[in-house]
Amino acid sequence: MYGLKLRYAKSSLLIVASLIAIILAFSYLPHALLAIIGGFVVILGLSYALGHNTWKQTRDIGSRPSRAAGARPQRGERKSGGRKSRAEARASRRVEILHPEETVTLSAEREAAEIEDVFSSLDNQLVGLVPVKKKVEEIASLLLVDRVRHRFGLDAPRPNLHMCFTGDPGTGKTTVALQMADLLFRLGYLEKGHLVHAMRDDLVGEFIGHTAPKTKRTLERAMGGVLFIDEAYYLYRAGDSKDYGQECIDILLQVMENDRDKLVVILAGYKDRMDVFFESNPGMSSRIAHHLDFAPYKLDELVAIGRAMLDRSAYYLSADAEMAFREYLTLRMGQPRFANARSVRNELERTRLRHAFRLAAEPELSRSKDDLMRLEAADILASPLFALAEPVSAIEESARRPPR
Ligand SMILES: Nc1ncnc2c1ncn2[C@@H]1O[C@H](COP(=O)(O)OP(=O)(O)O)[C@@H](O)[C@H]1O
Ligand SMILES: [Mg+2]
Repeated sequence: MYGLKLRYAKSSLLIVASLIAIILAFSYLPHALLAIIGGFVVILGLSYALGHNTWKQTRDIGSRPSRAAGARPQRGERKSGGRKSRAEARASRRVEILHPEETVTLSAEREAAEIEDVFSSLDNQLVGLVPVKKKVEEIASLLLVDRVRHRFGLDAPRPNLHMCFTGDPGTGKTTVALQMADLLFRLGYLEKGHLVHAMRDDLVGEFIGHTAPKTKRTLERAMGGVLFIDEAYYLYRAGDSKDYGQECIDILLQVMENDRDKLVVILAGYKDRMDVFFESNPGMSSRIAHHLDFAPYKLDELVAIGRAMLDRSAYYLSADAEMAFREYLTLRMGQPRFANARSVRNELERTRLRHAFRLAAEPELSRSKDDLMRLEAADILASPLFALAEPVSAIEESARRPPR
């Protein structure tokens, strides 16, 4: 605060001194001499301002950190400096064509692209999904070999990477699409690597002339990244001549063909509906290069997913609670609107709520760190789902006993 005051005091003093000097000069000096001095001061001021600005710019460029070719930019840099550096890195790789006798290792190239992080994040974040992870590895290998071929001056058409993710809700489609966007960015296939999530309403209009601008706006947002169209089959309404979905599909087809180097489209939804959609839209089907099928999770996988989710937020299930959770999931899997891992996440959030409520109901009791982390069977068995079903087992009996 005092610093601020001092700064203003200095400026005020300078202005007052200048005013006094001008008034004195005006009174005592001949006006011609005054004009010459005034002109001289203005020229001096302008030269200083210009010189200072140029020096500042040169210093900024000089102090910007240089980046090794192929090194991945930091996340925050992605939209501006990062993108430029990556393009520069790619260009410099193109210039330095390797001699045919030279050799490279794919592991070194993998390291340069820093894609190991994506695979470890896929492995750590997602339980199961073995065929999907394998397909992601295959796509990464294709692009990696492409990069290395490029370094030897071997050019091939850019591979088509439009994809279709089929599977029930909550099977990890959106999560894998996000990782895929990151992977494609790191391997230099996409300029930005962001993901734009769109549904029919973001693409198809309701009046004449409404659809094309809407579709183009969404496409523009997605340029340089992935356009993820969820429940893509709703774009097309068979037999409805007044529907504008076909107009949107036509624009999408064109962009998928002509702007392959700027955009990857991922269509997602239930497998059977997507098959019907492709039958009615063979043009779309022929532009999709990779199909990834996300199988529904088995009970053990759902339990493992729940355990991993809790672990990430420093909670855990007691042995009884895990058995109760299994029973909960067995019932829930047979119910409408079951959404695999999403149902697991939602139920665990409700369980946390009941756990907190249970602890808060006896506020005078001392609680240990473990008490704050451990979810008990009672927290799960209080779910209304059990009230709808037959009493399930002896666990319920033991769980009704108040936990220690
Ligand atoms: N295999 C998995 N392991 C751990 N968590 C998962 C798994 N699959 C999905 N999830 C989690 O379930 C939630 C829903 O997943 P999401 O990718 O949105 O599914 P979808 O797009 O298929 O409906 C997310 O929180 C996600 O992290
Ligand atoms: Mg989704």
